[in-house]
Amino acid sequence: MSDVKLTSEEQGMLAGAEGPGVKRAMEIVVALARIYGAADLASVAHAQIAGVSYKNVGDAGVEFLNRWADEGAKVRVPTTLNPMGMERGKWQEWGISTDFAVPQLSVIDAFARMGVTPTMSCTPYLYREHTPKRGDVLAWAESSAVAFANSVVGARSNREGGPSAIAAAVTGRTARYGYHLDGNRRATHMVEVRCPVKSVADFGALSYTVGKAVGNGVPWFVDLAAWLPPLPSNGTWGGLAGDRLKTLGAGLAAYGAVALYHVAGYTPEARDLGASLIRPDAQRLIIDSLADAYRVMDADPDLRQIDLVTVGCPHASLTEIAQVADTLAGKRLATRLWVTTGEITRQAAAELGYVQAIEAAGGEVVADTCAVVAPMRMLNVRSMATNAGKMACYAPMHSGVRMRFGDLEQCLEAAVTGEWRAGE
Ligand code: F3S
Repeated sequence: MSDVKLTSEEQGMLAGAEGPGVKRAMEIVVALARIYGAADLASVAHAQIAGVSYKNVGDAGVEFLNRWADEGAKVRVPTTLNPMGMERGKWQEWGISTDFAVPQLSVIDAFARMGVTPTMSCTPYLYREHTPKRGDVLAWAESSAVAFANSVVGARSNREGGPSAIAAAVTGRTARYGYHLDGNRRATHMVEVRCPVKSVADFGALSYTVGKAVGNGVPWFVDLAAWLPPLPSNGTWGGLAGDRLKTLGAGLAAYGAVALYHVAGYTPEARDLGASLIRPDAQRLIIDSLADAYRVMDADPDLRQIDLVTVGCPHASLTEIAQVADTLAGKRLATRLWVTTGEITRQAAAELGYVQAIEAAGGEVVADTCAVVAPMRMLNVRSMATNAGKMACYAPMHSGVRMRFGDLEQCLEAAVTGEWRAGE
């Protein structure tokens, strides 16, 4: 008998009435509810699954996912996938071995058999059919997307793990704890930013400084709205404001473990609830300069030769792809450039001619993957440049590359010349 309050339908799932795949999923959901002291379960509107790249899940993951699919597990809410380790139609051209590609495709097949939509993107909120609404209960396992959904949209998700997001998708339930509860959405830190924050790279540098300081806290940015264009009111998040906020959330989640932040007078809950959202014991943090962050993130000051410039972490919006296409007009690249995005965005960008413009310069708009989850050594990439805070954090760790970090103009300049010359 469960100490977590379950409906009769949930009890049936736990007892195996809907088959072994659903039973396995409900066991995970209930175990998490017990661990975190949840009183009951909440109905989920959407799930986002991470742990999709074979590079991360390995053979054990391939076997686990296929066994679950064989047991008949099927998602019962709209469910999307994070990037995998290669682009669907290009892995052979890239020289990815079948030792990697075959198990990778097996992972995607297992998810497809479960009914998951193979978006292969970390920005489900950029796609109209998957954009959450304020108050929606989500089970998202991509930390950057969790930060965006909680903070910018006002939806509610914990930082799910890969299996727990699948379990939530299969049962349509998640344990009601953490960021699903009002009390845990209150700010633990008040952050005053007293220096300019003008670019996506600056927002990434800010995310480093704040993420390191607050850990898994909830920052309340006192005055950051001054550096943000107005939020769109039509629920499409791909503009300049969304680009800055997605990089901020991604970096806060990567350098700290932030799942939710508020911007005073700007993000939905901060706008509606005001200072009542700040805990009385909130600590104060003052950011005078981003220089220390740039010093750490631009980790390899002697590095000049760049093998790959990568833009689009989290996956690029149409606005970012347009910026790259504009900047590269009439230019020819000396090194590889990846603008990483989801296939849905790439198709939209192709319709507007941006993909062709970037390709004409010698760059690629790459779908389905990114330079963290792809096997970069197999692609002979040993040095990178990026304007994305999370990429600067993860690529050296996960892809073993040397890294330069700077704004978009510096990165594209490096793509044109093949060298990082900024600051000279
Ligand atoms: Fe997305 Fe890859 Fe960055 S999954 S958030 S582009 S590290």
